[in-house]
Amino acid sequence: MPAVIEVRHLHKGYGSTVAVDDVSFTVQQGEIFGILGPNGAGKTTTVECVEGLRTADRGEISVLGLDPRRDRAELTQRLGVQLQDGRLPERLTAGEALRLYASFYRRPADPGDLMDALGLAGKRRTPYAKLSGGQQQRLSIALALIGNPEVAVLDELTTGLDPQARRDTWSLIQDVRSRGVTIMLVTHFMEEAERLCDRVAVIDRGRVVAVDSPAGLTERLRDGRRIRFRPSVPFEDALLTGLPDVIGLARSGDHVVVTGTADALTAVTSVLARNGIVAQHLRVEQPSLEDAFVALTGSHSGAGPGGAPGAGAT
Ligand SMILES: Nc1ncnc2c1ncn2[C@@H]1O[C@H](COP(=O)(O)OP(=O)(O)OP(=O)(O)O)[C@@H](O)[C@H]1O
Ligand SMILES: [Mg+2]
Repeated sequence: MPAVIEVRHLHKGYGSTVAVDDVSFTVQQGEIFGILGPNGAGKTTTVECVEGLRTADRGEISVLGLDPRRDRAELTQRLGVQLQDGRLPERLTAGEALRLYASFYRRPADPGDLMDALGLAGKRRTPYAKLSGGQQQRLSIALALIGNPEVAVLDELTTGLDPQARRDTWSLIQDVRSRGVTIMLVTHFMEEAERLCDRVAVIDRGRVVAVDSPAGLTERLRDGRRIRFRPSVPFEDALLTGLPDVIGLARSGDHVVVTGTADALTAVTSVLARNGIVAQHLRVEQPSLEDAFVALTGSHSGAGPGGAPGAGAT
């Protein structure tokens, strides 16, 4: 499969702040590629460089074989962009905004169809300022797709959407992808990454710390399996902590929580059985993508300002 987006050794700073510190990744044709990372990790800066809205300090970016800065006019026709904090004039109605954006493109989608797909049909005549936060967000997704782009880059796709709208948006994005569109999206929602993304890049403090499928990321957690139970009789920790597949043991009230590898369950239950201990209320918890995210990025989050720089080019 040909690479549609190629980012190589991207560096970008703002004054003394290093926002992106040597980021590289490749997105294939028809892929849904996610970017996850704590606040301030450099996600928006990275995607704005890909969109040609910011100039990289160093590194190379190619989108559909084009240079986002040099070939901006051509790329604008083929790339759909949703900004993290894109705002529109207050009095522009949703319908006017879509028709206006449609006029910029050679082969636009039908504004009415997109409004229907995004649950905005009743809001055609509503001024931007009078849309709810979630409706403004839906409109920004519609604007990213109105040009029938070959590539869509969506920064915080479903932030602020209610659970149903989020699901509707996921199926819309899947439909768009099934038409061959390549999608890169930034998200803070683990479920969104798991449901939508073929692969995910985890970015932390301006660096890519992992690129893998969501399942591949969770499989990397050696100690991700948690086995929780209430022993029928008391026992010493050493009975289980001595097992090679067991990494940790904690007690919470009358429950025991054992962490270990994928083989820990068999090992633990057989040792318990041999010692005449019944594991009551036994529950096994698989590692989640969130566990993997926390392990990869440390527990520090929310370190950044959370705000977005908007669309201004630097
Ligand atoms: N226009 C700007 N001027 C100065 N510093 C900036 C600017 N935009 C971003 N930064 C800084 O660059 C770093 C990365 O910011 P960026 O917006 O790329 O993070 P992010 O991963 O998108 O975070 P979030 O999850 O909060 O959206 C942060 O430390 C931020 O303070
Ligand atoms: Mg951001």
